[in-house]
This record gives sequence, C-alpha cells and structure tokens, in this order.
Amino acid sequence: MWRWEGFLHAAAPEAVTLGEGNTPLLPAPSLGLGDVWIKDESRNPTWSFKDRLGSGALTMARRFGAKVIASSSSGNAGAAAAAYAARAGIPCVVFTFVGSAGPLVLQMRAYGAMVVKVADKADRWRLQSLGVREFGWYPTSPFFGPVVGSNPYGMEGYKTIAFEIAEAFDWEPPDWCVLPVCYGDALYGMWKGFEELKALGWISRTPRFVAAEVSGSLPAALASGDPMPPEIARNAPSIATSIGAAQATVQALDVLRRSNGTAVTVGDDEMRRWVVTLAAREGIWPEASSAAPFAAIERLRAQGIIKPQERCVALLTASGLKDPGPIESALPEPPLVSGGLSELLAALKNTYGFSHD
Ligand SMILES: Cc1ncc(COP(=O)(O)O)c(C=O)c1O
Repeated sequence: MWRWEGFLHAAAPEAVTLGEGNTPLLPAPSLGLGDVWIKDESRNPTWSFKDRLGSGALTMARRFGAKVIASSSSGNAGAAAAAYAARAGIPCVVFTFVGSAGPLVLQMRAYGAMVVKVADKADRWRLQSLGVREFGWYPTSPFFGPVVGSNPYGMEGYKTIAFEIAEAFDWEPPDWCVLPVCYGDALYGMWKGFEELKALGWISRTPRFVAAEVSGSLPAALASGDPMPPEIARNAPSIATSIGAAQATVQALDVLRRSNGTAVTVGDDEMRRWVVTLAAREGIWPEASSAAPFAAIERLRAQGIIKPQERCVALLTASGLKDPGPIESALPEPPLVSGGLSELLAALKNTYGFSHD
C-alpha cells in the first residue's frame, strides 16, 4: 500500500506496515453477472480490507506518540487494530459486544489486544470516549454519535484500493464499484482515491458507487432526499454482523449522490447464496457481508440500472473463515463412508448429487 506514499500522509519508511494492499483483481465470469471483477481484500495480512485502515491509523498513532490504541469493533476493524498495534508495539484495547463472531474475537486476542465485552452496544462508545478524553487513548474506530466514520488517517488508506483498480485497468476505471457498507469508510476512501486521480488527469472519469447495506439506511435517505441517513433498527440481527449497524454516515450518502450512484438493501438468504456460489464457482470464500455486493449487482442488472455492457468491480472485503457459522447450515454435512467404491459413489450421489459417467 505504501508504494502510493505520495498520495498518503506519511512516507513509506515511517509506515507501520504488514505488507497490506496490492490485492488481486480477478474476473468472475462464472457468476452470470456479466463483466464483474472481484477485488479480493481477503488476501490482506489479517484477511480483510481493514488492514489498509489499520496501517494508515497506526502509522499516525506512532508518530503522535500514542500510549494506547482504542477500537470499538465487533470484528475486522478490531482485528486489524490489534495486529497493527502489535506491530507498532503499542497496547490496544478493543471493545466488542456479547454475540460477536468467535473467530474474530479470538483473532484480536491472538494479537495480544486487551479485549473487553459489553452487554449493551452503546457502552462501547461511552467507555472508549472516556479513555480518549481522560487518558488520550488513540481511537481507530468511531466512538461517538451521530457516527462520522473511523480514523481519518486510516480512511486515507482506502484510497489505495481505487489506485490499484485504476492501475490494473490501465487507467480506464470501471463503470461501477459496489461495496458492502456499514459506516461507508471504504466507500468514502475509494471515492476520494478516484477523485484524486481525476484531479491529476491520470483518469478521465470516475466510477459510480453502489452501497450494499443490510439496514436500508442509505436507500431510505436516497428515496426521501434527506441530508442524513436515518437509523433503521432491525428486529433480528443479520448474518452479516460486520455491516450490521443501523445507520450509515453522511459522507457515505454524499458519495452516492456525488457519484450518481445508488444503494441496495440486501437480505440474509441472498448473501448466504452468494457466499456459497462464490466459494464453489470462483474458489473465493467471502464473509457473509462481502457477499452483499453480488446480491446488489444481481438486482441492479435485472432492473437495468447497471447496463449489460457496463463493468463492475465488487469489493470482497473479508475472508469467510472470519465468521463461518452462518454458512455452515447452507452446506451438506460430509457423509461418513466405509467399504468400497460403490459405497463411496453412493455417498457422493446422495450428499452432493454427483454421478460418475
Ligand atoms: C467484512 C466487512 N465488510 C464491510 C464493512 C463495512 O465497512 P465500512 O462501510 O465502514 O467501510 C466492514 C466493517 O465494518 C467489514 O468488516
């Protein structure tokens, strides 16, 4: 990521880095979604796009002489904060809530973060604010409402996703970039990256952006014309816990309006279906939230909003290993086989519908 240092807030030798960025951009012809490419951010050091945020934020934390890093995160942002804090040699406190995905919390603990759970989600920000105001803890996540997004130096890191995409397509950007959105940090950062390239004359136009959301806060604001995305509480938690927040940010809405983009609300069933499809057809296993863009593209193609000839890049933000639970139920239980070939073939047929010709 730091080969783009001229666009970033620090020089490469100063960076707290684990070799994040430079992730593959892969065509996905077998999905039946037309000209779609996957920017596979699960290949980052902690297996999510949040490493760009972690590297950007921790670089400045170290420059400012931070004594403690603080993050309120149920998942990938906390894992990245923990790993980059370990790299920088700075203690890290991560606030999670009861019910967070087990592997993600384990990942934070493995990197040596002091993980604290709260029963009431609102307590995360309350406690983090106290740490920030009373002790000068360095925040990498949002910690007060209405939410304005994460650490601004961290968000600068997301610009490099746009740079890598533009470079990979020989400075001819795709028509659409489609992202799973929670607060819209990556949406804002990528948009800013393309805008900077355009201002420099490296590209002549910028993509339109799509937010794939589970709350529906951005689609509601686009429909009503309101300046602020509303808070839309769910009755039951989504399987995509990483993007489960009830309200997006003003800057996410602003990016959609400025880029002439749109937003789509996606549901559990379609995300589950796309996780299984991506893993089985493309060999890429995403976290449930990272399947949201594919559900959005499917719908927007069917509605004719994304035209047949238009090129889309879907941001695949994190690996399926981060939160495997919700997908397990969509897959057949492996059969127990004993005996010979005929038993094996019967088991393959019964469980997987496979027949040998
Ligand atoms: C896997 C994954 N995808 C997408 C998001 C959305 O993040 P944001 O919209 O804040 O950039 C998150 C994080 O919150 C995440 O963990």
